[in-house]
Amino acid sequence: MLDEGLQTSFMKQTRLPVDLGNVFDKDREEFGEMMMMYGCAIKEVQTKLQVLNDELSLARKRNPIEFIKTRIKKPDSIATKLKRKGLPITVEAAMKNLNDVAGVRVICAFLDDIYRVADMFTAQDDVQLIKTKDYIKKPKENGYRSLHLIIEVPVYFSDHKEQLRVELQIRTIAMDFWASLEHQVKYKRNVKDAEDIVYELRACADVINRTDFHMQSIRDRIVEID
Ligand code: GTP
Ligand code: MG
Repeated sequence: MLDEGLQTSFMKQTRLPVDLGNVFDKDREEFGEMMMMYGCAIKEVQTKLQVLNDELSLARKRNPIEFIKTRIKKPDSIATKLKRKGLPITVEAAMKNLNDVAGVRVICAFLDDIYRVADMFTAQDDVQLIKTKDYIKKPKENGYRSLHLIIEVPVYFSDHKEQLRVELQIRTIAMDFWASLEHQVKYKRNVKDAEDIVYELRACADVINRTDFHMQSIRDRIVEID
């Protein structure tokens, strides 16, 4: 028999990933099912990424991926986004129109790892690339950098297969550091000196970008890469 600790963590893993809140009242059961499915899509994507990382770290003796973060969009955020798009607040509308219910963020040490991971991942037979937004080649006005991919993967359930969309954000540690702080500024009201902060964050983004390139060139001088 499982000891209590193990049982608890197993139950935590299999339980619905979010509190359903008050939205989607009409669609409650279907909504729970949708969240379960997106949770599984995240697991599929995460496993694919971990496989690539394991294989490459054996071949190259360093990890292309530092870590992976995942998240499922909260029910109220799903509802708000559907409303904003003028769509009905239903499971069908969410699955058809939202690309970011399931989100996976991949953090790499070096810039070139981002494209290496993205290319290998999207080359897989069962991964369908829906959309790419390269905010590294073309950073946002505020200095935001990241490679965004919307991909679709098949997930096999007991009696059917579902094609599910996942938003994949791939960035360096430094870009992630920047985005976390910028996110806080954006979502905190009453930030003092907001204009100065925007200006300083953009300056930091430039420094970070130069540092990312610099770190990569130093790495190239230390290790032989193929
Ligand atoms: P959303 O409707 O917000 O999802 O944006 P979108 O559909 O136009 O997609 P986009 O690819 O531009 O952004 C998706 C996600 O990337 C956001 O939800 C954030 O997690 C992240 N992101 C995009 N722009 C910024 C930014 O300027 N700062 C930070 N910190 N994160 C950003
Ligand atoms: Mg989003």
